[in-house]
Amino acid sequence: MQRFEGKNVLITGAAAGIGRATAERIASEGGYVFCVDLAEASLAETVERITGAGGKADWALCDVGSLESIQHMLKMAIGKMGSLDVLINVAGVIKMENFERSTDANWHRIIGINLTGTYWMCREAIPYLLASKGNIVNVSSTSAIRGLPWGAAYAASKGGVSAMTKSIAVEFAKQGLRANTVCPGSISTGMNNNSTLPDKMDFSLIPRIDAMLGQKGPEYVASVIALLASEQDGGHITGSEYVMDGGTVM
Ligand SMILES: NC(=O)c1ccc[n+]([C@@H]2O[C@H](COP(=O)([O-])OP(=O)(O)OC[C@H]3O[C@@H](n4cnc5c(N)ncnc54)[C@H](O)[C@@H]3O)[C@@H](O)[C@H]2O)c1
Repeated sequence: MQRFEGKNVLITGAAAGIGRATAERIASEGGYVFCVDLAEASLAETVERITGAGGKADWALCDVGSLESIQHMLKMAIGKMGSLDVLINVAGVIKMENFERSTDANWHRIIGINLTGTYWMCREAIPYLLASKGNIVNVSSTSAIRGLPWGAAYAASKGGVSAMTKSIAVEFAKQGLRANTVCPGSISTGMNNNSTLPDKMDFSLIPRIDAMLGQKGPEYVASVIALLASEQDGGHITGSEYVMDGGTVM
């Protein structure tokens, strides 16, 4: 099935994890993927993997925590693609902290990249997406719905992403633009596997964040993002929050 044939798709956070899996999935279905991240070597590797498999892809460095960097990258992306059909915001960061000892610096970094970065990406790309009657898929998290122990800043940033995306969906529905979020639970990626847990962790809280079906890889998120981004399968879905958490206990 070639659901993205002739479609231009911009993906942030494409150097690793869910972003890379999404870029590979969409390219494997015929899309041209413009891959964006800060991590140059792994970003170039994503594109090599796609083009090596016969797909169409290009890349540009961009810090989504900087409006200037986003505007520069978007100019380059539109210059290369000519138009934009789908924006997928995957870039994100996490740092766990005990809430009562949490720092302003961590709060501002996480909100700045996860929420403000996603806001800037959407705002700057919307004129192009309105022209193509395209769509946005933003990566939120189950933490937006039920919180995350030791991850208040992260959960707050993702709650903002979910609420903002629903607002965009309603505001632009009559103009043919769709916007959805995916809310993964715990997925096996660098973010999850490398995040250090704070001391004095209360292990009785772990069922709240662990999947009953066991942890799965980023391809399980990529497949849902592709569904929402495709006009063929996701054409009647907007303002939705799609949870994939393998049955995490509330
Ligand atoms: N892994 C999980 O369990 C999980 C669960 C729910 C939601 N998420 C979300 O999924 C998204 C992807 O996470 P992942 O698990 O693939 O993590 P990851 O760490 O493997 O990938 C994140 C990517 O974002 C990039 N990035 C970070 N800051 C950036 C910036 N300022 N500008 C541009 N790129 C930047 C990183 O370089 C990296 O390539 C994140 O938004 C994360 O919050 C992950």
